[in-house]
Amino acid sequence: MLLTSLFTITNHLMKISALLVALCWMSMSPVQAADAKVPGKRVMDIVESRCALCHGREGESASAIYPRLAAQHPDYLAKQLKDFRDGRRKSETMADMVKDLSDQEIAELAAWFSSRAVSARRVGDTELAAVGKYIFNKGNPYSGVAACTSCHGAKGYGTHQLPRLAGQHSAYLQTQLMEFSKRERTNDNAIMHSIASKLTELEAHAVTTYIGGLE
Ligand code: HEC
Ligand code: HEC
Repeated sequence: MLLTSLFTITNHLMKISALLVALCWMSMSPVQAADAKVPGKRVMDIVESRCALCHGREGESASAIYPRLAAQHPDYLAKQLKDFRDGRRKSETMADMVKDLSDQEIAELAAWFSSRAVSARRVGDTELAAVGKYIFNKGNPYSGVAACTSCHGAKGYGTHQLPRLAGQHSAYLQTQLMEFSKRERTNDNAIMHSIASKLTELEAHAVTTYIGGLE
């Protein structure tokens, strides 16, 4: 009698522990899926031997004409890289860099750069930045320019669909605004075209100076 009930209890315990193991395994699998995005050796080699030259290993490009990639949203980065590869966003330099990359490698590159920390920023011309702050927060109500904050967020951090602008090199931002204005940035330019084409040269310089100093 005692033996039989002991046997039943042990049997139950074994079933419960099997269930626990299964539950643990299920709750661990999303973590394992995220780990798959941690760059493998081939992708780290690409970062170091290719991307680092212009964007820095940590996504902090030394030259102001190359965008900073550190802390940029992974979905935005991956989308731009695929658009360069597939010819939707025209750039001879970048097309060459990504032409041989798979979607998986692109996802790993995006995961790497988005996980890098940003470093401190400085603003050169504080008076110009003050004009830029007004445009960033309020737009230009007289010419119908929407506030940048309404889409890119109060601090310019962006969202998963929208790029982070905070701390980006002013010179790069300036070029992009000009390209949006002329529709020379060839992928998804409709929204930014309607904004950039209304900015005067002073406004574009001011707002990009301000954004460049955001952390
Ligand atoms: C020879 C310099 C150079 C190298 C090397 C290079 N890039 Fe670029 N990258 C650029 C330039 C220039 C642009 C801006 C392109 C434009 O808009 O015309 C750019 C733009 C980008 C952008 C778009 C950023 C944004 O905010 O929209 C991403 C993402 C990017 N590069 C990632 C990479 C990765 C990943 C590698 C390595 C596989 C790489 N780049 C290698 C010069 C380079
Ligand atoms: C109605 C929403 C909206 C508003 C308002 C807006 N943007 Fe954008 N912006 C976007 C979207 C969407 C993109 C991404 C386009 C893409 O996917 O290629 C973008 C991209 C950009 C980029 C390219 C960033 C990069 O890394 O290459 C710059 C620069 C930019 N915006 C500046 C501004 C400035 C400056 C203002 C204010 C004067 C502003 N935006 C207001 C929606 C907006």
